[in-house]
Amino acid sequence: MRVKMTAMPQMVSFFNGMGGACAAIISIIEFHSHPHGSSGYLLTVFLGLIIGSVSFSGSVIAYGKLDEKIKDLSAKYLTYINLGLLVATLAVLVIAVASPETFGHNAVWILLVLSSLYGVLFVMPIGGADMPVVISLLNSFTGMAAAFGGFLYDNPVMLTGGILVGSAGTILTILMCNAMNRSLLNVIIGSFGGGGTSSSGAKGEQVVKEISLTDTAILCAYAGKVTIVPGYGLAVAQAQHICHELEKKLEEKGVEVNYAIHPVAGRMPGHMNVLLAEADVPYPKLVEMEDINPQMNSTDVVIIVGANDVVNPAAENDPGSPIYGMPVLKVWEAKNVIVLKRSMRAGYAGIENELFFHPKTKMLFGDAKDMLGKLVGELKEL
Ligand code: TAP
Repeated sequence: MRVKMTAMPQMVSFFNGMGGACAAIISIIEFHSHPHGSSGYLLTVFLGLIIGSVSFSGSVIAYGKLDEKIKDLSAKYLTYINLGLLVATLAVLVIAVASPETFGHNAVWILLVLSSLYGVLFVMPIGGADMPVVISLLNSFTGMAAAFGGFLYDNPVMLTGGILVGSAGTILTILMCNAMNRSLLNVIIGSFGGGGTSSSGAKGEQVVKEISLTDTAILCAYAGKVTIVPGYGLAVAQAQHICHELEKKLEEKGVEVNYAIHPVAGRMPGHMNVLLAEADVPYPKLVEMEDINPQMNSTDVVIIVGANDVVNPAAENDPGSPIYGMPVLKVWEAKNVIVLKRSMRAGYAGIENELFFHPKTKMLFGDAKDMLGKLVGELKEL
């Protein structure tokens, strides 16, 4: 009840990690109860242990990163270490199942160490905008680990619940990978995001143009079509209600208004949908990225409210950028772009945004809630 909406992803990661830890502990206890079980039994125990431990240690690191307590650790050698750990874990698993006497009781401890280490090292280098995919993958791991627990206890509820979470999480991971143009293999060996050269951003002497509240109000009031791009800053400022007010005020003036929803805007899947639903924004007004992008060139004004990475053109035109290849909202194709944020600071991926220097862009600096409130006031005056 006390956790803020913006801190929910950390919370989800933490709970997810606890699920993984439970599955790993179940496997350890079960192994010691029946150390001479059949191969099928041992395989179930060890798989629950491996997947549960990866999910636990990976989720703890994900928690730390989302909470900005842990920084990205990007190095080329990590990919090889991760591959080595994965191979070593699978080798120990095969030997421990095929010839249990080789490692004896130590099998569980060896697998626990290897898989926990793998969980840490595969999440450590993941940076940029790619954490959502990893969180979704870890979530599906926890489901799978719980399903193995269901097998061990012959418990259909645990088995069904685990399979549901595991399969739904896997489908979500694949959808997110596709949406962000990443390969699942890259996620598993922990080598994507973060490691780019971050060459995107302002090159040379580029000028930022500012716009006043009055000019913003005039531009929007006399536009035919306005698209609002909500982002993490909208959630931080809790500006969803006033944003809905702005939308209604513009519609009263005959302007067509809709919202452009990026699949990873904010900090958790569906974040913007939940936020805007809370403010009673009609659902048909929320247009998904693939549907809104083709409409950008017929849009008069795009107002970006606390979004940054999801509108960064570097994803399209800078191969050195950590977010290169990720689909983004092509706001620069609209006739006018207004960016509402407090400063020139970077977003989650920690990279500069060339959009702020684009000839069509004007910056409206300030807190989202405060500025949108004032904008609604200006519109009332017109
Ligand atoms: P971001 O790139 O994080 O940018 C948010 C911007 O909001 C910041 O640049 C910040 O600039 C501004 N802001 C913060 N507080 C504000 C306030 N009170 N008023 C006005 N502006 C404010 O957000 P995004 O474009 O939504 O992209 C989301 C990022 O998070 C992506 O990189 C995504 O991959 C990542 N991520 C997403 C998820 C999911 S599943 N959605 C999960 C984890 C991570 P100022 O400081 O200058 O104001």
